[in-house]
Order: sequence, then C-alpha cells, then structure tokens
Amino acid sequence: MKTISVDGLVDPVEIRTNHRLLEVLVEQGAPLQMACGGKGLCATCHVHVVAGAEQLSKVTPRERRSLTMLADARPNSRLACQAKVCGDGVRVALPRGRYITSTTDLESLIGRRAEEPILHPVDGQTLIAPGKIITRSRIRALAQVDYDVAEMRTRSLTLRR
Ligand code: FES
Repeated sequence: MKTISVDGLVDPVEIRTNHRLLEVLVEQGAPLQMACGGKGLCATCHVHVVAGAEQLSKVTPRERRSLTMLADARPNSRLACQAKVCGDGVRVALPRGRYITSTTDLESLIGRRAEEPILHPVDGQTLIAPGKIITRSRIRALAQVDYDVAEMRTRSLTLRR
C-alpha cells in the first residue's frame, strides 16, 4: 500500500501499489466524470501533482497527447486514470471548475448563475464563466460539446486502457 494526499482532505489516503490515482480519488468522492471511461482521452480526470510526481508511473504517449489538448494544462498536470502510484508522498490538487459530460447536464441549472467555471469534458475549455447566467439559448450554443463527446467516445471504443 502507498499513501497519497489530496488537497482539501485532511488525512492522507491509502492506495494499493501500482493502482491508478483515479481509483482513490473516486473513492474519496472527487467530482471526476471519467467521460472517456479511463482511456486517457478526455479532461475530466485532470489533476495537478503538487508533490511526489516521481512516485507516479511515466506519462504515456497517449496521455501526453491528451494533455497537450487541455486548456489549463501545466507542467505538473496528469490524467488520474493514467497515473499509477508507485511510491509514497504523492500530493494532488483538482483543477477548479465543473466538467459536464453533455449539455443536458446544464438543464437543471437554467436560470442560475454558474458558481464555478463550467468546463468542456474533452479539452477543459471554459464553456461558461463563473457568475454568468445559464440560459436555454446559451446551452443551445454549446451543441458542439455533444458532438465532441460523441467523437471522443467513438475513439475510446477502439482503444485498450
Ligand atoms: S477518464 Fe478520460 S482521460 Fe481519464
């Protein structure tokens, strides 16, 4: 077993050696959408590794390619579904914002102001800035998101984890 820390959680959490970071984050209730099913093709499990990056498995070519597409990627960015925990001392922080997996996720928010950035599930672009009112016409204007997700899911069907 290894121990990692997650910003926002007081206590470190345990994870089985060589298991994916994603598993422990989901267990801890982190709001990760896993829109591509853990295939390394989307933004919804994006995390920032604040410490212990060398204790994670190396970035794969697929992960590297996906990270280059992310709007808010930083040198310490990883996709939690691709990073396996090999040693102790990893500390991660979740990017700010809420990913959607389709525009229907926004229906229940119509008439309300976005409390945090609403993010594109494939490239992490901000779709709706905090403070903006979510309207039906704004949601209609985001139709491309649904096409992008469908295309990404089609690609994920052809890939192994
Ligand atoms: S769940 Fe899609 S990249 Fe990790």
